Amino acid sequence: MRLALMAATAFASGLVMNAPASRAAEELNLICSADVVICEMLQQMFQKETSIQVNMVRLSSGETYAKIRAEARNPKTDVWWGGTGDPHLQAASENLTLEYKSPMLPELQDWAQKQAEASGFKTVGVYAGALGWGYNTDIFKQKNFKEPKCWADLLDPSLKGEIQMANPNSSGTAYTALATLVQIMGEEKAYEYLKKLNDNISQYTKSGSAPVKAAARGETAVGVVFMHDAVSQVVEGFPVKSVAPCEGTGYEIGSMSIVKGARNLENAKKWYDWALKAEVQSHMKDAKSFQLPSNSKAEVPKEAPKFEEIKLIDYDFATYGDPATRKRLLERWDREIGANAN
Ligand code: G6P
Repeated sequence: MRLALMAATAFASGLVMNAPASRAAEELNLICSADVVICEMLQQMFQKETSIQVNMVRLSSGETYAKIRAEARNPKTDVWWGGTGDPHLQAASENLTLEYKSPMLPELQDWAQKQAEASGFKTVGVYAGALGWGYNTDIFKQKNFKEPKCWADLLDPSLKGEIQMANPNSSGTAYTALATLVQIMGEEKAYEYLKKLNDNISQYTKSGSAPVKAAARGETAVGVVFMHDAVSQVVEGFPVKSVAPCEGTGYEIGSMSIVKGARNLENAKKWYDWALKAEVQSHMKDAKSFQLPSNSKAEVPKEAPKFEEIKLIDYDFATYGDPATRKRLLERWDREIGANAN
């Protein structure tokens, strides 16, 4: 009672109002949709260089897109770094992200600049990675499985229950896989393929790289992931081989966007310009993140899968980065595949 009275008196006299000054200007709220190790490394580097506190959460690309949509009237995020480009484009076309022309743009590769132009400068490419899978070579040897070189090989009945991939609702990696198969086979054949593949899938994970981490630990034989995520496991010393599918494959332009209504806008721009620097991107390999960096002067890690050796499709970002296409493909996936998942 006495305490309550004292608090009331303090409040009335303005003491509480003058209490600790806001630290808002020193903060940045970041959602990071790449691997948690690179997310934490960038967070630490930026904090050290700028003294701006970075409040970071790691969320998959589809989850982040859903969160930013849900918070559109009261945004809690300033910057969204990494994750596949399609949901960044979807957010841009729904005006959830802010137009920003970084002075760093001229230093970027064409594909990263095109991503910015296509979105009205509401997003930009930070890295690129090709889709494929990784398989556990020990399990394949022990069980006498045939090496899966092509998408078609993943349907082999011997692989029943031996494959993991992510759920395309939450994961940008899995959405890229869905959109890639539709582009390679046509929509009807792609869904027929995915229904058959479902027989061999033991689990649809939330995050895109989880399947190859499970393969590395011997919990599954194959993980459908970005090839550089399989390479990270090889570099960690696991018995994993990374595969570029023989029929061809899609790729991501990992992207970055500033959220419209960001509370810490100046800090968001600081992060944005910083994250496009060659020196910063050259450090990605230190976190075993082997994508192609978007800054043309950044060092390309020697471990990075070589795009010129992979049969890449001409991925249609305008169509598959469109919110209506996303909604339609995911609803069909939920009805025809997700509903029958193991
Ligand atoms: C991994 C890859 C990134 C990719 C991300 C997408 O972290 O290394 O290149 O952008 O997955 O994550 P998601 O969980 O949305 O599939």
